[in-house]
Amino acid sequence: MDTKVISSGKHYSALPASYVRPESERPKLSEVSTCENVPVIDLSCTDRARIVKALAYACSVFGFFQVVNHGVSKEAVADMLRVATEFFSLPVEEKLKLYSDDPSKTMRLSTSFNVNKEKVHNWRDYLRLHCYPLEKYVPEWPSNPSSFKDVVSNYSKEVRALGYRIEELISESLGLESPRMPRVLGDQGQHMAVNFYPPCPEPELTYGLPGHTDPNALTILLQDLQVAGLQVLKDGKWLAIQPIPDAFVINIGDQLQALSNGKYRSVWHRAVVNADKPRMSIASFLCPSDDALISPPESLVEEGSVAVYRDFTYAEYYKKFWSRNLDQEHCLELFKNSRNPAAGSDTSSSILKTS
Ligand code: OGA
Ligand code: NI
Repeated sequence: MDTKVISSGKHYSALPASYVRPESERPKLSEVSTCENVPVIDLSCTDRARIVKALAYACSVFGFFQVVNHGVSKEAVADMLRVATEFFSLPVEEKLKLYSDDPSKTMRLSTSFNVNKEKVHNWRDYLRLHCYPLEKYVPEWPSNPSSFKDVVSNYSKEVRALGYRIEELISESLGLESPRMPRVLGDQGQHMAVNFYPPCPEPELTYGLPGHTDPNALTILLQDLQVAGLQVLKDGKWLAIQPIPDAFVINIGDQLQALSNGKYRSVWHRAVVNADKPRMSIASFLCPSDDALISPPESLVEEGSVAVYRDFTYAEYYKKFWSRNLDQEHCLELFKNSRNPAAGSDTSSSILKTS
């Protein structure tokens, strides 16, 4: 039986044709090396100025970093991973009750990325949830496994607090007062993608997620400690991010790139798959409120110049993002201020095809 998802228990001995990338777009896994110098920021450090400095470096040079001693409890993380594994182990008929390929749904199980827009599919199933405000969205979440709602609510709250704290530190690292970013971003939405990548018969031919940047403000990613798969583009090369215990990977999203007037980078990243083991990752996205005006503070725009990107609302941006395929040019490119002569174009999307 063919099902809509790949976490169906079915064993695949070859990759179905609809997942096979053309030769020039394949991940070339043997050429990928491990990123040896990912910034790791210890949030329990009592020297705040030191954290702020480390963040400025991480956000401008890398666009991502890992955090440890971040305040999210070990129990919350362990429970989240357990309930996510239990969910994807449910019988496929049970999971399919939640299936939808409509990106406007606030709770759905889906597969790949945007099945109705993309030409080639990706080796991923995912459960996508809205997590804020909890009272509004928890009632529509899965009730099987029975602890799902409690566990995911608790995890979402803890991760949200961490995200706000990081945004405050990011404000400071840009020379702004700490409430600036969270204030500009409004009452932020919060989404979660529970990503499940089953073992893949031919991992060299496809992706879990192809290269993309995250359209939101800040992403807090919990990676499977046992199975690596996240890679980021740095200086034109794809580098693997080794999971480290009790850490989150944080990446700057498109909105913080725009708000920082391009000083901080929303980096290209991707998830690759492997033949041996299933991989789980849990991405929490902080998203500006729909009506938040994304416009950099004057202090970050050079005198006599205009901002790199024109002003827009998050609602406008998000609509544009989901109307496209994932591995096209940086969505922010479509919002460039043509009056900014310094605005060079992001050439990464051509790198995605050729490297
Ligand atoms: C994402 C993402 C990476 C991963 O969900 O946006 O980039 O490792 N996930 O699953
Ligand atoms: Ni992402």
